[in-house]
Amino acid sequence: MTGTAYIQQIQQMLLALGADAGLSVPALQQKYLGANGAFTVLAKQIAELDPNDRKAAGRPLNELKNALAAAIAAAGSAESANDWVDLSLPGKKPAVGHIHPISQAMAEITRIFTSIGFTRVRYPEVDWDWYVFESLNMPPDHPARDEWETFFVDRAPDSKKGQMVLTTHTSNGQVREMERLGEPPIRMINIARCYRRQQDVTHTQMFHQFEGLVVDTGITIQHLKGTLDYFAEQFYGPGTKSRIRPFHFQFTEPSFEVDFSCHLCNGTGCKFCKSGWHEVGGCGMVHPNVLRAGGIDPDVYTGFAFGWGVERTYTLKEGLAIDDIRLLYSGDLQFLEQF
Ligand code: DAH
Repeated sequence: MTGTAYIQQIQQMLLALGADAGLSVPALQQKYLGANGAFTVLAKQIAELDPNDRKAAGRPLNELKNALAAAIAAAGSAESANDWVDLSLPGKKPAVGHIHPISQAMAEITRIFTSIGFTRVRYPEVDWDWYVFESLNMPPDHPARDEWETFFVDRAPDSKKGQMVLTTHTSNGQVREMERLGEPPIRMINIARCYRRQQDVTHTQMFHQFEGLVVDTGITIQHLKGTLDYFAEQFYGPGTKSRIRPFHFQFTEPSFEVDFSCHLCNGTGCKFCKSGWHEVGGCGMVHPNVLRAGGIDPDVYTGFAFGWGVERTYTLKEGLAIDDIRLLYSGDLQFLEQF
């Protein structure tokens, strides 16, 4: 091979090298400097040249080879520098959820009542007519039942306990708790899902209630009122008061509606309350027929009961004017992440 032909081969290789600029460092290494690489092959061909041309061809080849080797080494160390991890950088935070506001409210209600000796109980949320209505002094066809927009379960009724329904209120726990304990004292707090055939901006078909029941000897309205005041202060803050107004429920005699003073305006009246008060639920002294239905002698024992919705209790506390209560159960994270 002549010296000129050899130089032409070097030039061609350099052109090819230019076109290969995008190859990875290991690929360049192998293609140009490896055992069968372009430089290696050219270096071997030097032996075929005229001895006078060998030096003239060999020196530039060597210089080019060293320059390429240096460039490949530099690129290699830059590439591995990209693998370096800076441990001092702040980490990526995984998204963390939180407890649903209504679950938080139920936990707080549980804490308040269990700290004065109530026991949290759970009873079926699909229950017999007997526990939901009849044992609560509402015989079949009693008009008071109309209050509760009931979902009935499509199955054969039980000969003694009647039809199966989705619980319309947590009062179904009253006679169940009397049966469970057999004998007073009873101090129960029953928190559960309830269902009614109603759905609009202030109602969801599924909601929650909490129900208190205390039965013992010598229980009076004073115990009921004291318990309501205690709850008001614990849940809404010091100074919050309760008020009871005469009402009618089949399962209590006498019966009352329960109001709490507005903790946002201290009872002076604001846009969240009715003249300083919030109406929340019902209460009363357990009707003798209910005690009898639970196997308890009303001549020996008396009791009080109360019950109302968790959703309303919670939104009042926060002063939340939620335009559409259904948002609470929409699973909409943009909404829920605010709480
Ligand atoms: N169960 C009633 C309702 O859903 C609320 C209630 C009223 C519960 C009076 C009681 C009570 O325990 O004594 O509207």
